[in-house]
Amino acid sequence: MEFEPSKDQQMLRDMVRQFVEKEAKPTAALRDDEAIWPTELVKKMGELGLLGVAVKEEYGGSGLDYISYAIVVEELSRVDASLGVIASVNNSLVCYGLERFGSEDQKRELLTSLASGRTLGAFSLSEPGAGSDAAAQKTTAVRDGDHYVINGVKNWVTNGDHADTIILMALTDPSKGVKGITAFLVDTHEPGCSIVKVENKLGIRSAHSCQMAYDNFRVPLWRRLGEEGQGFKIAMTILSAGRIGIAAQALGIAQGAYEAALGYAKIREQFGKPIHEFQAVGFTLADMATRIKAARLLTYEAAWRKNSGLDYVKDASMAKVFASETAMWVATKAIQIHGSNGYSKEYPVERFFREAKITEIYEGTSEIQRLVISREITRD
Ligand code: CAA
Repeated sequence: MEFEPSKDQQMLRDMVRQFVEKEAKPTAALRDDEAIWPTELVKKMGELGLLGVAVKEEYGGSGLDYISYAIVVEELSRVDASLGVIASVNNSLVCYGLERFGSEDQKRELLTSLASGRTLGAFSLSEPGAGSDAAAQKTTAVRDGDHYVINGVKNWVTNGDHADTIILMALTDPSKGVKGITAFLVDTHEPGCSIVKVENKLGIRSAHSCQMAYDNFRVPLWRRLGEEGQGFKIAMTILSAGRIGIAAQALGIAQGAYEAALGYAKIREQFGKPIHEFQAVGFTLADMATRIKAARLLTYEAAWRKNSGLDYVKDASMAKVFASETAMWVATKAIQIHGSNGYSKEYPVERFFREAKITEIYEGTSEIQRLVISREITRD
């Protein structure tokens, strides 16, 4: 058993930390306030190899392991969780899906540019009536010669308004339920695909989440991902990997909020001494550090299992539910330690608090993670 990061993983962490401290931190609050998409930072993430961390080098990726990927998302999110989710969606919901299920032609044509950051990806499963019940798809894909014609509305498409390629799920045979769902690699530059709205969100506002409509949108046959009817399994497999990314995002948010609280508790004096010397504050900091450590171990272990070719469905859900609830708890306590200052936008903890909430919701709510875990642990 090995608990130390490798030298390469430590160097990667240092590199990402330097990048976000210098280039993202100064503008993080403003970009969040005004919901500004981080064009230059996304470009830079691509150049640094952060958008295809675990993708093989022959397909344009950095060829690293999944723990390295978790470290990247953690470090981005420690400063700006919007960058964390933009990277996480491209890495695990799109690149991983393509590398795992794509044909050689699809990988050469699409994965190399997505993994190297020349293009950006998104993932489209949720619909107005299909949230936790992901199988309740209404979007249809009807075969027409060597094309499919897609009609429907998709919700909560992270990166949607900047994506070039979207992995989209649609019904090719409504009579077959989950076995009638098929995955497609949508080219957003083709006519018939439009942004209905960019959501006005509580947090991670710099990462855009869109509602998108497909109106007689034509997808050539070669852009079908996998076989007809495999779409739900593909989506679930992709989401299990994605949940490790969201656990890492939550971990980074928790770490950022903790560091802010620790720093504040050391300089803020009340009743003649720094507030960390009061047991109520000192013990809260101790609990924060302990919970974060536990979340980190769960997240890295799930990543290690994936890397080692072991089953990780349960472990990814455990990491996500624990890390996201840790992020919410730590961010809430971080505000409390800051007192009124924590409620002000002049300090970063209110942003961490708003960012933390979504990690308990997207890529499967905490309730869905518990459903997945309970099914896995009671299976024979
Ligand atoms: N990996 C592989 N296959 C899986 C799987 C997994 N993790 N989970 C289920 N499957 C397979 C099952 O084996 C089954 O196939 P077979 O019949 O061949 O055995 C098939 O999928 C159907 O599975 P279920 O019967 O378990 O399906 P269900 O309808 O009961 O739903 C669910 C299961 C876990 C509740 C699922 O609907 C789910 O995960 N819901 C949450 C959806 C979600 O996470 N959405 C997030 C969208 S992305 C996002 O957040 C936006 C963003 O951009 C960040």
